[in-house]
Amino acid sequence: MCGIIGYVGARPCTNLLYEGLRKLEYRGYDSAGVSVLSGGRIEVVRAVGNMDSLERELKGNGYSGARLGLGHTRWATHGRPSTENAHPHSDCTGEISIVLNGIIENYVQLRESLSADGHEFTSETDAEVVAHLIEKHYDGDLLEAVRLTYGDISGHFAFCAIHSGHPELIAGARKECPLLIGVGEGEAFVASAIPAFLSETREVMVIGDEELFRITPEGAEVMDLQKNVLDREQTRVHWDVDAAEKGGFETFMRKEIYEQPDSLADTIAGRLPDSGGVVLDEMLIGDDVLADIDKVYIVACGTSYHAGMVGRYVLENWANVAVELDIASEFRYREPVLSPSTLVVGISQSGETADTLAAMRQARKLGAKVLAITNIMGSQATRDADGIIYTRAGLEIGVAATKSHIAQIAAIHLLALYLAQVRGTLTAAQIGAIAAELKEIPELLRRYLKHESATHEIAKRYYQQPFFLFLGRGVGLPVCLEGALKLKEISYIPTEAYAAGEMKHGPIALLDKGSPVVVVATDGHVYDKVVSNIEEVRARQAAVIAVATEGNEGIAAYSDDVMFVPRTSEMLSPLISVVPLQLLAYHIAQLKGCNVDQPRNLAKTVTVE
Ligand code: AGP
Repeated sequence: MCGIIGYVGARPCTNLLYEGLRKLEYRGYDSAGVSVLSGGRIEVVRAVGNMDSLERELKGNGYSGARLGLGHTRWATHGRPSTENAHPHSDCTGEISIVLNGIIENYVQLRESLSADGHEFTSETDAEVVAHLIEKHYDGDLLEAVRLTYGDISGHFAFCAIHSGHPELIAGARKECPLLIGVGEGEAFVASAIPAFLSETREVMVIGDEELFRITPEGAEVMDLQKNVLDREQTRVHWDVDAAEKGGFETFMRKEIYEQPDSLADTIAGRLPDSGGVVLDEMLIGDDVLADIDKVYIVACGTSYHAGMVGRYVLENWANVAVELDIASEFRYREPVLSPSTLVVGISQSGETADTLAAMRQARKLGAKVLAITNIMGSQATRDADGIIYTRAGLEIGVAATKSHIAQIAAIHLLALYLAQVRGTLTAAQIGAIAAELKEIPELLRRYLKHESATHEIAKRYYQQPFFLFLGRGVGLPVCLEGALKLKEISYIPTEAYAAGEMKHGPIALLDKGSPVVVVATDGHVYDKVVSNIEEVRARQAAVIAVATEGNEGIAAYSDDVMFVPRTSEMLSPLISVVPLQLLAYHIAQLKGCNVDQPRNLAKTVTVE
C-alpha cells in the first residue's frame, strides 16, 4: 500500500501535496511526510501517525516558495512506524529525495553493498536504498539515475525522485504498483491514485507496467526502460471524488476483492527467494524451538478463524504437526492443555480483536510460544506475541474481510512451509516446487478476475432465495464456511455451512425443491466424496451451485450452475476457490440493495468481548 504524490509547476506546492495526501490516506496512515525544494535546498517534514500529525508539523512551516515536491502516506511493511522510517527518504547529500510504494525484495543485499561503499542509512526501510542508489548512479542526469536504479532493484514498486539541481523535474518508475500522471496548465502531478489530484486536473496519463516517466511544468513523458518515449494519450476522467477514492469501483468491498492478487503477491514477496527456502524476518521464535514443537494451536475469530482452519489441513500435510483450532472467545474460557512445546498462532487482521488478544495472552501465561499473524504493524497482537508474520494486504475498509483473508491464507502457507523446512518434513525441492506454484497464483487470480462474469448471472437467479446451504470437504470446508459468512453478513440472508459428509446427519432436512446449495467441489483427493454429497442434495431436488476446477466439464452433469476457478494443487486451492464465493455474496447483496461496505450491526474491529 502507501500513497505517493508529486507536484511540479508554478504554484506553491506544499498545500497541494498535503491535500493530495489527505485523499490518499485510505492507503495507509502510519506516518506521512513531504519534501519540497525551497531556497535551493530540499526540506523534509515528516510525522508519525495520520495526516493530522503532518498538518501540525507543517504549521508555520509551509515553505511558501516551493514549486516542486513529493508527498507520502505510509502503510508500514519494513520498519516500524517512526519518523525515521517515514518517507520521503534522502540520500547522503540531502540533494535527492524519494517516495516509494511497494516492496524492494533485494534491499538487504543492496543495503549491505551500499553501506560497504560508505553510504549511511538513517531508517530501517527497504525504500531508503532507492535514494542511495540514485545518488550512486547520478551523473547530472536524474532520469538516467532512476533508470539504472530500476535495473538494480527487484520486487514490485512505484517510486518518484527529485534532485535539488533540477528544480523543474520529477522522475520515477513503476513495476506492478499503481502510478498515474495528472497533466495541468503549466504543471503536472504524479500519484498512486487519481483522487490525489482530481480537484486540480482531470487530464490523466497512464504510466504502464515497467515504464519510466518524467514530468515538468511543460508536460509529461512516459518511456520504456531504454528511455524511448512512448506515444501515450491523455484521457479525461469524469469520476466524482467519491468514486475516485474507490478507484472507479462502486464500493470498497469490490475494490478490495480486485486487489487480492496484489495482497497475495505482497504477502509472499521476498519470503520465498529464488535461491530457495522460506525467509520470515519477524518470526523471532528460534528454529530449534520450532523444530521441537509437538502441537500448533490456532485461535481467531470470524474470517480469520476460517483462514486458521485452512491452516489445519496445510500444517498437518506439509509440516506433519498436530493442529488444534478454536474460536478465540471459546478458547479463552476453557482450560486448554498447553506446554512450552505448543505453538499458539493468533490470527487477526486488525491485531486488536479483544477475544483473540485474550486467548494469546492466556496461551503465553500457560507457557506456550505465541505467534501473531496480523495485517497491522505495531498492533496489540504484535506486542502480545513472541513472533509475527505480517500479512501485507494494505488497508481494508470494507467491513467484510476479503483481501486480508487471502493474505492470511498465504501467511499460513508460509508458516507451514517454514515449519516443514525446520522440521525437515519437506525436501528443499518440494518447498521450491510449492513456492513456485504459490508465486504463480497472483497472476492466475488477476486473469480470473478479469474474465469473471458468471457469478453475477448466478446471483441474479438466486438472490431472492430465503436461505442458502454451503457444503465443502477438506480444504473446501473453510472455504464454504467463509462463503456462508460473507453472504450472511452483507446480504442478511440466513446461511448454514457444513462439512459435506455431515449434511446427512441433520442439515439435509432443510432442503426443499429449488433450495440453493453452494458446494465447493474443486479437484482434490475428496472430490469423488463431494460428488456423492451433491447427488444426495439433488435427490431432494435442491439447486446445486458448484465451485469447480477449470477443465472439469463433467461437473455440469451434477450441477445447476458452475463457477469455474483456475487449477492449483489442493493445499493452495483456497486462495482461489474463496473468490467466487466472495463475489457471489457481493452481487447478491448489491441486488438486494444492501450497504456492502458497512453492513448493519457490524464493526470492522471488535475490541469488546
Ligand atoms: C469478516 O468479514 C468479519 N468482518 C469478521 O468476522 C472478522 O474477520 C473478525 O471480527 C475478526 O477480525 P480480526 O481479523 O481483525 O481479528
